[in-house]
Parts: sequence; structure tokens; C-alpha cells
Amino acid sequence: MSERNTQLKVSAIKDGTVLDHIPAGRLFQVVDILDLSHCSNPVTIGVNLESKSQGRKGIIKIADRFFEDEELSRIALAAPEATVNIIKDYQVVSKKKIELPAEVVGIAKCSNPMCVTNNQDVPTRFTTVVEGEKVKLLCHYCEKTTEEFVPLRH
Ligand code: CTP
Ligand code: ZN
Repeated sequence: MSERNTQLKVSAIKDGTVLDHIPAGRLFQVVDILDLSHCSNPVTIGVNLESKSQGRKGIIKIADRFFEDEELSRIALAAPEATVNIIKDYQVVSKKKIELPAEVVGIAKCSNPMCVTNNQDVPTRFTTVVEGEKVKLLCHYCEKTTEEFVPLRH
């Protein structure tokens, strides 16, 4: 218990966004999706942290930044189980689950090597298709289904 309290003291933020419960193996995909390597706000990243419910989890804290729902919904591709916590004056003022967007533009790579998006400077565009636990991406251009999310590099 005391260990957890110490951890929170060290890493609590005053205002901003905390993305919690990110599967450890997907953390850097979320960093890419939000383009955090180009973010000048203070960003704290924790990976392989212990979680009671998840085994190992990742967490991202972005100070003084509040994302649009549209930006947050992109995270659903990599970490649909992540929680978004809005922090104001050290308090968690809102906690939301991430909602899957109907359409995904310019974030994921099409798995078809022949697709125009892999051969010309055309941004990718997909419709999301939910099948049980899985999210598949139907390409607007080649109409092939991408089963595994692979982020495009910025
Ligand atoms: N947090 C933070 N800075 C604050 C307040 C909270 O960085 N000033 C972080 C906590 O470390 C935690 C997340 O925001 O990772 C959510 O906080 P809280 O709801 O208090 O934690 P839990 O109850 O553990 O959340 P959950 O029920 O979603 O697991
Ligand atoms: Zn395609």
C-alpha cells in the first residue's frame, strides 16, 4: 500500500490527461498514435508497471493537455481497454472509456503491399469492423481487410 502511495506522489500531475491500463506491449503504439514525440508538454511514460487486473500495464501522463474525443478515439485501435482520466487541480474529474471510431484516416498501415497507399503518397483510410473482441480495418482503396493494426510512422 505505502509503495503505491509513494508512486502516486512522485508521478501525480496537477492538470492534464492520464491514459491508464494500456497493455504494456501496446504503449509505444499509443505514443505514436498521439504523436507524442512531437509534443512539447511534460510527458511521463511508465511501461511494464504492475497492475492487479492486467499483469503488466503501461501509463502515459500528459501535463496541461486535453485531447479531443476524436483524437482519443484513435487509441482504440491499439488499446481499446485503456482508460482516459482528466485531471484538474490534482483531482480525477472525469474518467472515460475509449470509443472506437467508425473511420480511421492516416494512422494505420494497409496490409496489402499492392495497395495505392503503400505505393503512392495517399493517406490510408479504413472503415472499422468489430468481430467479437477483434477490430479489423477495411481499406477504402483496395477493399482488403487488415487484421492487425500496424501504425504508420510520423
Ligand atoms: N493520477 C495522476 N495525477 C493525479 C491524479 C491521478 O497522475 N493528480 C493518475 C493515477 O496515478 C492513476 C490515474 O490517474 O494512474 C487514475 O487515478 P485514480 O482514478 O485515482 O486511480 P484508480 O482508482 O487506480 O483508477 P482505475 O479505477 O481506473 O484503475
Ligand atoms: Zn489498402
